[in-house]
Amino acid sequence: MFQSLGARAFAVPAPVFLVGSYDRDGRANIMPAAWSGLCASHPPCLAVSLARTRWTHAAIAERHAFTVSIPDRDMAAQADFAGLISGRDEDKFAALGLTPKTAEHVDAPYVAECRAVIELRLLHTLALGSHTQYIGEIMDVKVQSRYLDADGFPDMRRLDPLLYVPLAREYWSVGQIVAKAFSVGRSVDRRAVIGGDGS
Ligand SMILES: Cc1cc2nc3c(=O)[nH]c(=O)nc-3n(C[C@H](O)[C@H](O)[C@H](O)COP(=O)(O)O)c2cc1C
Repeated sequence: MFQSLGARAFAVPAPVFLVGSYDRDGRANIMPAAWSGLCASHPPCLAVSLARTRWTHAAIAERHAFTVSIPDRDMAAQADFAGLISGRDEDKFAALGLTPKTAEHVDAPYVAECRAVIELRLLHTLALGSHTQYIGEIMDVKVQSRYLDADGFPDMRRLDPLLYVPLAREYWSVGQIVAKAFSVGRSVDRRAVIGGDGS
């Protein structure tokens, strides 16, 4: 039996993206944004939704650029700190001992200590009640080479990205590989899927 939890902001898992930006004075800042995800393939796009009160909100509107640095499980406390403090009040990079590195393709900093980073130029801005959705075109994806697999793709096990669970307000890490996508579905027995167990 399902139990309704009402109309809540919930989906799992949510990513923990560290959104990097330069403010109007050129100060580097990061904030975690879990209301985020991929939203187009051609051109490759990613959206983050930021409340208007965030210092990062104004920074992206001004610079038309941002980055996403993907923290690993050992960065949970640092990511959480960045979500408790505003760049309006404190230099979070300095407080956390992290290194801001200027992106190659856009006017924004990323976290040099992260294993994977994404550079984005602002493509669209969508007002959504409490939040503004910033849709960025992905200009580059950078992964530290030791976190790539033999095929040159990001290796989930080694990347070990931090995940967020809304409502419970918990950080999680990823589990085990289950199957190959766009492949395992070929083994499905159609009768079992469409007709159930026949009872
Ligand atoms: C795990 C986590 C996820 C968060 N996700 C979002 C989000 O998606 N959008 C948002 O506006 N704020 C989000 N926040 C809150 C901001 O990160 C927080 O208000 C931060 O201090 C804003 O920083 P800034 O003022 O330097 O931009 C999140 C906080 C945490 C801890």
